[in-house]
Amino acid sequence: MKVDYSFITTVTPGEEKELAKLYREAEWWDGQGDSEWIRQLPQRSTLFLVARCEGRIVGMGRVIADGVSDGYLQDVFVTKAFRRQKIGSELVRTLTASAAAMGIDWLLLIAAPGKTQFYEALGYHVMPQYVPMRFGGRP
Ligand SMILES: CC(C)(COP(=O)(O)OP(=O)(O)OC[C@H]1O[C@@H](n2cnc3c(N)ncnc32)[C@H](O)[C@@H]1OP(=O)(O)O)[C@@H](O)C(=O)NCCC(=O)NCCS
Repeated sequence: MKVDYSFITTVTPGEEKELAKLYREAEWWDGQGDSEWIRQLPQRSTLFLVARCEGRIVGMGRVIADGVSDGYLQDVFVTKAFRRQKIGSELVRTLTASAAAMGIDWLLLIAAPGKTQFYEALGYHVMPQYVPMRFGGRP
């Protein structure tokens, strides 16, 4: 199985559906309403990386950054049928290296429950006593 990785800034309507599927499968979006916001993400993120197999998007990840020093790794997803094949690892490695090449040396992420080891194997570490916080919304 050959998987290609590429940075994108725009999506076709078909790719928008593939990205929407990734957000739904990860349960980060309930699939209700227009997916217009997904269409905007590649252009508005600093880095937006996709993994494709036979032309179809099977994974993604992105970095939001100031382009100078600080950045956040977000939305690392692999579609269910393609998990545990190191695609997620390659997405994180490539995004991390690209952010570093831009001078981003403060790269943070919030690991979802149970995902700490996945990121630790890729060079990330837990910051003791620092706690992720979200404004408003549900706890
Ligand atoms: C997390 C995710 C991106 C990992 O992608 P992946 O391509 O399956 O991961 P990899 O194959 O690169 O995994 C590398 C290693 O990380 C660890 N790992 C991966 N997924 C894991 C999981 N769900 N639970 C615990 N450890 C996991 C394993 O040690 C794995 O090595 P192994 O398969 O040899 O045991 C994918 O499971 C996913 O999309 N999950 C839903 C969305 C999500 O939670 N994203 C992370 C948000 S912080």
